[in-house]
Amino acid sequence: MGQSLKDKVAYITGAGRGIGKATALELAREGVHLGLMARTESRLKKTVEEVEAFGVKASYAVVDISNQEEVNQAVSKLKENIGKADILINNAAISSRGQFLEIDPQDWKKTIEVNVFGTYHVTRAVLPQLIEKNQGDIINISSSNGLKGTAGSTAYSASKFAVQGMTEALMQEVRRNNIRVSTLNPSLVATELAFGNKVDEQDKEKYMQPEDIAEYMVSQLKLNQRIFIKTSLQWATNPF
Ligand SMILES: NC(=O)c1ccc[n+]([C@@H]2O[C@H](COP(=O)([O-])OP(=O)(O)OC[C@H]3O[C@@H](n4cnc5c(N)ncnc54)[C@H](OP(=O)(O)O)[C@@H]3O)[C@@H](O)[C@H]2O)c1
Repeated sequence: MGQSLKDKVAYITGAGRGIGKATALELAREGVHLGLMARTESRLKKTVEEVEAFGVKASYAVVDISNQEEVNQAVSKLKENIGKADILINNAAISSRGQFLEIDPQDWKKTIEVNVFGTYHVTRAVLPQLIEKNQGDIINISSSNGLKGTAGSTAYSASKFAVQGMTEALMQEVRRNNIRVSTLNPSLVATELAFGNKVDEQDKEKYMQPEDIAEYMVSQLKLNQRIFIKTSLQWATNPF
């Protein structure tokens, strides 16, 4: 028998759309109260409205996760509004594509600042809450690009390999605190990050949907606290 997630508190970054929003909805279905973060207020408000329909408490904070000071303020606000976190989903990230010599150096740097430092900043702000409870979960959304580089994705791959390493090292530090730290490594998922504004035109049977990743994540969180999945890859069955 796994554990119930009812009345736990989860903080999710990048909860305005895509995998982050789908995860918020899936956790709300399980009775989890939610603290939601991203930069676009209108999208966060919409997610709050939709998750509240499941009868859970929800709060949002507008934040750029690449800025530690903003993150600290956001996490304080969420803690005040919905309580200390049991679960942290580090989901927010950006993608930058282009051949190594052609990609704008500022875009390369920004990718590292958001994907690596962003994950670090949020974890740094939230981890003390989990340690205090002597229990918890941190799931970092990496990517198949965090395990295997592909042409045209040097910055994104570098950022996701870094997330992979940071996750594994932190996991070894906080297992003794009963905290499970893991990565998810999805292949292509039908979101704006992958398809831009053409996302709704894609074949829903061909590509994984954000809901698929969210359902997987929830099943992982429901495992008995004594077991966890260190890392996992999610692939589409037949994308051809
Ligand atoms: N889609 C895929 O094929 C795929 C595959 C493997 C892994 N992933 C990973 O899955 C995760 C979710 O991606 P997605 O596909 O759902 O992307 P998405 O639809 O583009 O959503 C990204 C979310 O992150 C937020 N965000 C971006 N930069 C931010 C910042 N600086 N501060 C705070 N929030 C920020 C965005 O909101 P704002 O713009 O409003 O801030 C948005 O809510 C990412 O870690 C991504 O690398 C995706």
